[in-house]
Amino acid sequence: MQQDKVKVTLGGISASMLSCLWGRAQLSKDHSSLFYDAKAIELVEKIDYDFSASDVPPFVGIMLMFNLSGKVNRPEFCLGPIRAKQFDEKAKAYIAEHPRASVINIAAGLDTTFYRVDNGLIHWYDLDLPAVIDIRRQLLPEPDRVTYIAKSLLDPSWCKDITHTEDGVFMIAGGVLGWFDKSEVEQFFSMLADNFPDGEIVFDAMSRLDGGFRTWMDNFPPEQQDAMRAAWMEAMKEWWEKAPQDQKDKAITALKTPTKPKGTEWADIEAWWNQHSDEEMAEAFMTAFSPIPSGGDQWALEDANEITKWDNRITVIDQFPMSKNIPRESLSADMRRFMDYSDERGEWNIFHLRV
Ligand SMILES: C[S@@+](CC[C@H](N)C(=O)[O-])C[C@H]1O[C@@H](n2cnc3c(N)ncnc32)[C@H](O)[C@@H]1O
Repeated sequence: MQQDKVKVTLGGISASMLSCLWGRAQLSKDHSSLFYDAKAIELVEKIDYDFSASDVPPFVGIMLMFNLSGKVNRPEFCLGPIRAKQFDEKAKAYIAEHPRASVINIAAGLDTTFYRVDNGLIHWYDLDLPAVIDIRRQLLPEPDRVTYIAKSLLDPSWCKDITHTEDGVFMIAGGVLGWFDKSEVEQFFSMLADNFPDGEIVFDAMSRLDGGFRTWMDNFPPEQQDAMRAAWMEAMKEWWEKAPQDQKDKAITALKTPTKPKGTEWADIEAWWNQHSDEEMAEAFMTAFSPIPSGGDQWALEDANEITKWDNRITVIDQFPMSKNIPRESLSADMRRFMDYSDERGEWNIFHLRV
């Protein structure tokens, strides 16, 4: 019943956890042999939120990359479930060797990895910002052996909340580090090395911030490129018309394009957008339309050896493209094409480090 549902109103990066959750639930329903998360399905049903239309503009860009039209939130638009599957394999392997380990899900959102990998012995911690942990508690009270930590990942005090470290520490950080700037990410890794020597972490990162937009478009015949642009505009319009005025004003102020829209009506945006190249569109998208207000200086990582240069205590265990070894025969042709394309170019990767 609607009144029993938990209403979720969050903005920016925290709202993006809903798309990830939705993606995991949807993939579980459509492709259960590839990935199955009963808790994600249950959570989506408990939440009072319009999952059919996202208020997180970046997903518009991902949608365009997938060459799909229609509603913004569809599993194909979010590689969240693929990332979750990769992290599950890594977590299960670590837990098999360290059955009483502590596992810390950093920026957990509404992720339910614990239920997918639990061996009945591990200690689990889900960390996220206080507003998110509050929602998480309402939807999913802490089970035994699980502790929620309502702190920023940049706040070193959370490391002291991990009380059990003697049987190994494994961390996952999905869909989050790319939202910070390089110096913050650098501090974050040093903090991990200070507090969890020999601990391991898996996380994902884009290799470049523009997402290879132009070259991706070049893969398609011109008429299909037009259809992709039209799909982008349609989704952008849907988001723009719902966005609050202050968000629109902020986006326009942040634009670095040679000209700016004449006003904040959709027609003004469309007219302005049509004057710009795909590269400028991609740039505008990654900066002004990003949910992170500063925009533009977010972190990307091509090779994890960059991190070992920041801090020589850190070593690389593994790094590979996001969809590596994911069986994709049952997925849509668009999804498969995106996965192949992204993997070939190393656009979005999984990293596994020892700190
Ligand atoms: C894209 S979501 C990913 C959530 C989850 N990892 C998943 O895969 O479903 C990004 C998450 O980062 C969290 N986040 C953003 N800034 C954070 C911070 N400073 N400290 C901890 N979490 C943060 C958001 O609240 C949100 O839950």
